[in-house]
Amino acid sequence: MRPPPTEDLAPWFLTLDDLDGVLNWSEFYGNDHPVELDVGCGRGLFLVNSATAHPETNYCGIEIDYREGRRTARRLKKRMMANARVLGGDARVALEKLVKPRSVAAVHVYFPDPWWKRKHRRRRIFNDEFLELVAGVLVHGGELHSWSDVGEYFQTIRNLVDHHADFHEEPLPDLKDPEHDMDYLTSYDRKGRRAGSEIHRGRWRCTAG
Ligand SMILES: C[S@@+](CC[C@H](N)C(=O)[O-])C[C@H]1O[C@@H](n2cnc3c(N)ncnc32)[C@H](O)[C@@H]1O
Repeated sequence: MRPPPTEDLAPWFLTLDDLDGVLNWSEFYGNDHPVELDVGCGRGLFLVNSATAHPETNYCGIEIDYREGRRTARRLKKRMMANARVLGGDARVALEKLVKPRSVAAVHVYFPDPWWKRKHRRRRIFNDEFLELVAGVLVHGGELHSWSDVGEYFQTIRNLVDHHADFHEEPLPDLKDPEHDMDYLTSYDRKGRRAGSEIHRGRWRCTAG
């Protein structure tokens, strides 16, 4: 039996292999609005809410799990969102090979996989190499945002960013109580807060470039 045809979600979902060389954001979105990346966008709550609230900003989720990425893209397609896309693939590859240096206004990394077991910690995405990649794509004055409900991982993230010469920490607004089910930053934010977990948040500005 032939496999079922894969639903065409272009341009909302493209894999890194579909792209030909370094991304030209103006061609990708058809405008020159600032671009923000959501690394590990998961089910896309942040993408949908942010792209709806800020039509003058382009959002690009990068998700290694194609099933999740396609699910998010389906939500974007349903709403015919012009300013949000999902790239399927490893964000580290995208940052290194496809995103032009100093072309991104913000990088969001929310609730990165904690890889709890000590022997698996080296699989964590947020390490010094990743931070170098982030520093390389952000414009001068661009922002890095990261949240986590894993205190120990967040402390690692904070140490890395605080010790990096190209970033300085910015104050955060108070965390507001959600008014409804979709009024969370991301799905993992909702899961964490409902479980009563402490949510650790960081916002840093890039001074390089
Ligand atoms: C714990 S989930 C958080 C999802 C979402 N940010 C949220 O807060 O609800 C982590 C996500 O990062 C994705 N991910 C892990 N490593 C990745 C990588 N190297 N590149 C892109 N996505 C990655 C996972 O597939 C997963 O969807």
